[in-house]
Amino acid sequence: MKLRALIHASELITGAGVSQKDGRHITEEDLGAIPDGALVYSTKVVQGKTLPHKVIWTGKTSELPRRFAKIPKKNLRMKHSLIPGFVDCHTHLVFAGNRADEFAARCGGATYQQIAEKGGGILKTVRATREATEKQLEALAVERVKKSASYGVRTFEIKSGYGLDFETELKILSVIKRLKTRFPEYTFSSTFLGAHAFPPEQSREAYMREILEHMLPEVARKKLADCCDVFIDAGYYTLAEGRAILQKARALRLQTRMHADELANTESAALAAELGSLSADHLLRISDRSITKLAPSNTVAVLLPGTAFYLKAPHAPARKLIEAGACVALATDFNPGTCMCLSLPTIMTIAALYLGMSRAEILSAVTYSGAKALGLQSRKGSLEKGKDADFAVLPFSSFEEAYYRFAW
Ligand code: NIG
Ligand code: FE
Repeated sequence: MKLRALIHASELITGAGVSQKDGRHITEEDLGAIPDGALVYSTKVVQGKTLPHKVIWTGKTSELPRRFAKIPKKNLRMKHSLIPGFVDCHTHLVFAGNRADEFAARCGGATYQQIAEKGGGILKTVRATREATEKQLEALAVERVKKSASYGVRTFEIKSGYGLDFETELKILSVIKRLKTRFPEYTFSSTFLGAHAFPPEQSREAYMREILEHMLPEVARKKLADCCDVFIDAGYYTLAEGRAILQKARALRLQTRMHADELANTESAALAAELGSLSADHLLRISDRSITKLAPSNTVAVLLPGTAFYLKAPHAPARKLIEAGACVALATDFNPGTCMCLSLPTIMTIAALYLGMSRAEILSAVTYSGAKALGLQSRKGSLEKGKDADFAVLPFSSFEEAYYRFAW
């Protein structure tokens, strides 16, 4: 087993306390911040690349045990913060085309819903994505993954949902599968979001049958997704439709997640908790009743404040959720309609300013809680002995500089 070490990190954040507290009621002490820290990790060789494997030891550089005296070391010269790699647990990063024209229309007063009713919105991206070849989609996705990783993201969730027909949904999921081979240094979690909107060419009932009887069984059989998501909202899927899809997904041994209470309150967050979904995402209009159901549950509240910002919508009640004991994650929701932003640090800036989240809450939201939203918390989200050595070396000496500078 070949070992490596990083030494003299200006600040090493292990997040050990965050995982012990399951990402709830997080304070600065839970970060386990160590000034002048060091990390020892094992390596593995994948496709000819030597990659970090498992965390072996963390502590102060001055206390590095003698048995590690001879291993290769990289000196961070007190200039870099060393943290658990970021997890972007909600993205739609496989799509073609863009919606710059709709952004301009929204800035001129049109609403997201008005644009969608005229055949724009998600359906505009569906048309472009259906036309694109798998190779073209892959090339676009590769550039986006590289950009996001440049900010310290090591684990990505990616949804389908811009196909809305069997062939294109499978094409998108195949692109996500190819990303896994293309980037062995990162982790990808893929989500089937066939229930993102209704396709124009078939009736609502026919498409529901297509998802339940055709798409989901095939996605599960071919192991093309880890998870199934539904956009439950006014003008999109109803609670009953969402329940039917997610129950079918569970029966096929897929995990579930949900776009919940984004454009209107539908009490969908409570349904996510009831169904044992990994996450309920957005929550801009979550009711106090749903907060009471969601907060103590194992369903992560995934907040996407870049979307509220970009839609000029009210922000999610982050403080209420945190104080009620919810495990709160933050993600980009990168997509061409409601958040054309790949920068997780920019999302952290918005969370600090508009969600009132502290440094400790933000760190935990983009590491441990993001990993939990993907069901990966036993391996990822903190730098503890035996867990994956999934770390990020920031180009700053303290973690908060990553979001104090914005849009870097
Ligand atoms: O997360 N809410 C549904 N889906 C996306 C928007 C997709 C789009 O407009 O293309 C979201 O906000
Ligand atoms: Fe989304």
